[in-house]
Amino acid sequence: MKAIVNTIYGPPEVLQLKEVEKPFPKDNEVLIKIHATTVNRTDCGFRKAEYFAVRIVGGLFKPKNKILGTELSGEIEAVGKNVKEFKVGDAVFGLSTFKFGTHAEYICMDEKKSIVTKPKNFSYNESAAVCEGLMLAYNYIGKIDFKKNPKILINGASGSIGSAAVQLAKYYGADITAVCGTKNLELIKSLGANEVMDYTKEDFTQNGQLYDVVLDAVGKSTFFKCKKIMKPGGVYFSSELGPWSQNVWMALWTPLFSNKKVKFPIPTDSKKDMSFFKKLIEDGHYRAVIDRVYSLEHIVEATKYVETGEKTGNVVITLDHN
Ligand SMILES: NC(=O)c1ccc[n+]([C@@H]2O[C@H](COP(=O)([O-])OP(=O)(O)OC[C@H]3O[C@@H](n4cnc5c(N)ncnc54)[C@H](OP(=O)(O)O)[C@@H]3O)[C@@H](O)[C@H]2O)c1
Repeated sequence: MKAIVNTIYGPPEVLQLKEVEKPFPKDNEVLIKIHATTVNRTDCGFRKAEYFAVRIVGGLFKPKNKILGTELSGEIEAVGKNVKEFKVGDAVFGLSTFKFGTHAEYICMDEKKSIVTKPKNFSYNESAAVCEGLMLAYNYIGKIDFKKNPKILINGASGSIGSAAVQLAKYYGADITAVCGTKNLELIKSLGANEVMDYTKEDFTQNGQLYDVVLDAVGKSTFFKCKKIMKPGGVYFSSELGPWSQNVWMALWTPLFSNKKVKFPIPTDSKKDMSFFKKLIEDGHYRAVIDRVYSLEHIVEATKYVETGEKTGNVVITLDHN
């Protein structure tokens, strides 16, 4: 089968299209023929290994997982003899967050991992596009009781995590101020933001409003800059570690010494969450935001675009299996 293989850490050019052995499912596994995947910031982070933490998880000197890719949609082509939930021909979508491997024509996954049947109202491209943004956004938004803490500011609302966070917060009834660039103001309003701010024209930390929650979905701010716009008891989340990994350390000490807290939850995916995302989509509460679509052969180009930090929502890779 065709796959994108990277045997060393480095620039996008380390990603090489190769012919590798097609996997065979174990008794508890399904073989998925992948129709769509994505290039996301997690792939970029694990390819570059900029942060030392990546090497601890992903291999000290060279990548342990030689095929990147965390999101997928596709069709079950074969099932192991103990598989109960899926049958050949089922259309599925899901996440392979810690094992990667979706930048390939096929993947084998334990049926108990984060795969469920695909939403009926979404195409393969849409289904692959939404998985990681939703999982990461839910990691923050799912921890807030919006009945008690309704006012949220979401910075980076036009990214993959941000556009998911806006839609999830809307679903939970939040009062959302979303910050994005000029070209995305209308889109973000249409996803459910009550107010939108253009970061190229205004500094959201100077707008005189107070929020129960600040979610910096692109990690461009710091807790110290945002403290003044947080209500007492307010919570600050960032999708980035912050300067000197300060968000991790402050998540430990702010709950002890401050009435404004940093939280830095470690993201996890699960089948239960994927089922919830499927329901959200089928009930009409969620839209896929897709910026560009590339073929597997053009993954280096797709990766370079993702690394501009300027994509709107998600970048999809389609597989034609020719
Ligand atoms: N914690 C984790 O496990 C985890 C996992 C994956 C990614 N991440 C990190 O999370 C961050 C977001 O990832 P993503 O994929 O959602 O991002 P993304 O899609 O790459 O974000 C791109 C968006 O960011 C917006 N943006 C750029 N500069 C901005 C600024 N100064 N203020 C506000 N918005 C700005 C752009 O807005 P406009 O186009 O509207 O100008 C663009 O739409 C990245 O830093 C990534 O490394 C963390």
